[in-house]
Amino acid sequence: MKVLLAGGTGLIGEALAKRLAAEGHNVVILTRKPREAAAQGPRHVRWDGASSGPWEAEIDGAEAVVNLAGESVGSRWARAKKNRITESRIRATGAIVRAIRSSTKKPGVLVNASAVGFYGHVPEGEVTEAMPPGDDFLGTTCAQWETEAQKAGEFGTRVVLMRTGFVIAREAEAFRRLLLPFKLFTGGPFGSGNQWFPWIHLEDVVSGYAYALEHPKLSGPANLTSPNPVRVKQLAKEIGKALHRPSFLPAPAFALKLILGEMSDLLLKGQKAVPLKLKEHGFVFKYETVDQAIRVSV
Ligand SMILES: NC(=O)c1ccc[n+]([C@@H]2O[C@H](COP(=O)([O-])OP(=O)(O)OC[C@H]3O[C@@H](n4cnc5c(N)ncnc54)[C@H](OP(=O)(O)O)[C@@H]3O)[C@@H](O)[C@H]2O)c1
Repeated sequence: MKVLLAGGTGLIGEALAKRLAAEGHNVVILTRKPREAAAQGPRHVRWDGASSGPWEAEIDGAEAVVNLAGESVGSRWARAKKNRITESRIRATGAIVRAIRSSTKKPGVLVNASAVGFYGHVPEGEVTEAMPPGDDFLGTTCAQWETEAQKAGEFGTRVVLMRTGFVIAREAEAFRRLLLPFKLFTGGPFGSGNQWFPWIHLEDVVSGYAYALEHPKLSGPANLTSPNPVRVKQLAKEIGKALHRPSFLPAPAFALKLILGEMSDLLLKGQKAVPLKLKEHGFVFKYETVDQAIRVSV
């Protein structure tokens, strides 16, 4: 099938494009910086992530659209940065929905990225897809982003919202940053260490997206997180074990807030998100426990 990948040049997009192309799908990447396609690589098509243009012709007749586009959350959240994080997602998703509306042959499915940040900070208890959004920055951003994507449903396109956890992989920059203090013999839990850390390995992220494309009964929000979230203190212990480094030096919350500002929320606030919907639909995870995922990623 023809799959359009918006924001397909990033961590998840690149891995997903590789997998779909290897399975014989016709993958087209929407990017702001098109590259000459490699001999067998996916075709790159230019868009600006906001306005209509010739790229819209690619949606007409495509069987599926995956939307991963959005400003990276991985640097200090100054006001302008926060605006870009939210606006880039709403604009890109809005542009895709408008293109779907005006296409003659509409895609059967839109699989849209979202994040477990949707739920805000939930100190205790399992968090399933039925929980409402949090009222913090990430919660309100994800809720607006999802609302925009859901509009594609009005034109008969199935919409799946992938509420993804923290992605563990050798190539994931955020994970590499997490490893750094451990490699320097200064690693340990951040904040109290009791907060939940909903993680997932990149291979399972890619399989989850592929699963959503192929399973017509799956729709609406789906937690794309491992079935076994851990508390931060266990995460730190497992990283230390895998790297043969100490893992007891805590990074206090006040220091993280000082260095990272509000972005420290990503580390200090968490939720025990579980993939209830994916499990109900029969999805099988390759990496069920965090020690397995870390071992292959350090
Ligand atoms: N990785 C994680 O741990 C994680 C966890 C939860 C949710 N997610 C969500 O999943 C999606 C994909 O994640 P990822 O890690 O693959 O992200 P990523 O590596 O940052 O890639 C996102 C892509 O979005 C495009 N982009 C960046 N700024 C944009 C803008 N202003 N307008 C339009 N497009 C823009 C870029 O493509 P071009 O430069 O080629 O245009 C980039 O390759 C993101 O929306 C992210 O929020 C990721």
